[in-house]
Amino acid sequence: MGGYYRSYIFKSKGRDLSFLHQVFLHRAFDMLVHFVTDEASKIPAVRAMLEPQFGVIPQLLGVGDTPGSSNGVLMVDADLRQMVRVEQIRLVLRKLSCISEKLFVVQNQVRSMVEQAYALGATDVISRPKEIIPKLVQIAEKSAQTDLAIASPETDDSAAAFASLFSAIRNGKSINLSDAERATSQIIDSVAQNGLSAWLDEVRRYHQATFQHCLLVSGVAVGFAMDIGFDTPDIRRLGMAATLHDIGKAHIPLSILDKPGRLDPTEERIMRRHPVIGYDLLKDIPNISPEILDGVRHHHEYLDGSGYPDALRAPEISDLVRLLTISDIFAALIESRPYRPAMLRPEAYKILCGMDGQLERSLVKAFRNVALVV
Ligand SMILES: [Fe+2]
Ligand SMILES: [Fe+2]
Repeated sequence: MGGYYRSYIFKSKGRDLSFLHQVFLHRAFDMLVHFVTDEASKIPAVRAMLEPQFGVIPQLLGVGDTPGSSNGVLMVDADLRQMVRVEQIRLVLRKLSCISEKLFVVQNQVRSMVEQAYALGATDVISRPKEIIPKLVQIAEKSAQTDLAIASPETDDSAAAFASLFSAIRNGKSINLSDAERATSQIIDSVAQNGLSAWLDEVRRYHQATFQHCLLVSGVAVGFAMDIGFDTPDIRRLGMAATLHDIGKAHIPLSILDKPGRLDPTEERIMRRHPVIGYDLLKDIPNISPEILDGVRHHHEYLDGSGYPDALRAPEISDLVRLLTISDIFAALIESRPYRPAMLRPEAYKILCGMDGQLERSLVKAFRNVALVV
């Protein structure tokens, strides 16, 4: 059965894509496909067909639990003539009820199966493998347009700069720092003019998780730097380090980045590579500032030596990195995750206060104003 999928592999290499198309295609890279099937052999075949253009989260019917998620597309390929399968699919659909797009694959358009698919709530029924990727790209484009329609010009432009940056990295092209500079300048202008709270509200409406995180961390770090009276070049340096801090995640599989649940130890090990990947991606760029490289590599280090990747201790951790780490943790806590809702700002600040020994106490104290007031 797996061969059914292997017969069609999507090829985009060598095509000349416009910038907007690249942004749209990038959105396809960021879309998760929850693939639900009754045959284990279809899982590697679907992965071979869809990855890395899409993140695939497979589920074999009747095996394990379905983690909740509101992200991406559901794609079901199972024998809908068997009532036991239909019941299992119903359970999965209940868990994933927030996902609006539900594609069912029914080979040869078997009539009873097509009817059953729609009865289960299918938004589309696909009969041939070659229809799958165009359909998924169409859904990703629609979702990108919705994001662009609700976002302000600043969020829109900053997000497009991130899309361009991540897309270049995933396609093995060289990184253009002007994209990061553009995003950082927009963030600095917006926080200076409208305050941090307005920026956080704006960014939270933008639902793509990795971009949202980078935009949030940059806004928080810039707000922090302004609040403690940094001069303009230092605000810009910290802003750039924050914008680029998780750039290494462009090389972490989406199935790990957007996993709707906690990471297992193997996935955690892969995820923990992102600071070094980011550092390696940036280190040979001419004139890149050492502070940015420091921030990208060390934003998960703690003063007591319990962080990664280099287990640095307090004397080896720069001020810029200390500020960035506080901003990063705070931003992560006030984001919603598939397995937990967003924390309120006072609640997130309390967690920072409890990390005594890992974060610098005086900076956490100074951050209070940013966390609770600005
Ligand atoms: Fe990180
Ligand atoms: Fe981060």
